[in-house]
Amino acid sequence: MVKETQLKVEAIKNGTVIDHIPANIGIKVLKLFNIDGTNERVTIGLNLPSSALGAKDLIKIENVFLTEDQANQLALYAPKATVNQIENYEVVKKLNLSLPEFISAIFKCPNSNCISHGEPVNSGFKVLTKKSDIQLKCKYCEKVFSRQIVTECNS
Ligand code: CTP
Ligand code: ZN
Repeated sequence: MVKETQLKVEAIKNGTVIDHIPANIGIKVLKLFNIDGTNERVTIGLNLPSSALGAKDLIKIENVFLTEDQANQLALYAPKATVNQIENYEVVKKLNLSLPEFISAIFKCPNSNCISHGEPVNSGFKVLTKKSDIQLKCKYCEKVFSRQIVTECNS
């Protein structure tokens, strides 16, 4: 892979850089982590040139560090994103993304008849993987949906 030679967005001192997000997914990631509600400084790059992806989105959040669990929620939208932890301008850690086995309280169920819509309950899906195919099974209606259906109906 050809290295991207220059910083497209200013370096940060402490915090998290989520890089290599596919173009158009950056805004969803902001919502996923409620980053749009934070008081910390956030810099966002959308449609930045990337040798690996063609175009990518990038998010830098100062003074916020994602847990491994939070980073794994990202895997559903952007399995190839990199999550870098920055301390004193240095990359001190890169989190590896892996799909969680269960996803709670993030996505609503695409089935409009699902009981979860009428109740004050948290949604929940079991993550099923068949080769590179990712599917989610609702714990309430037990219907199985492709990853795309679930992320699109929640965008
Ligand atoms: N970064 C930053 N502020 C810093 C250090 C790094 O915003 N003080 C950003 C870089 O711009 C990059 C990401 O954090 O988007 C990862 O940095 P680095 O590991 O140095 O970049 P790469 O070698 O390109 O790593 P990778 O291929 O994993 O993206
Ligand atoms: Zn359901």
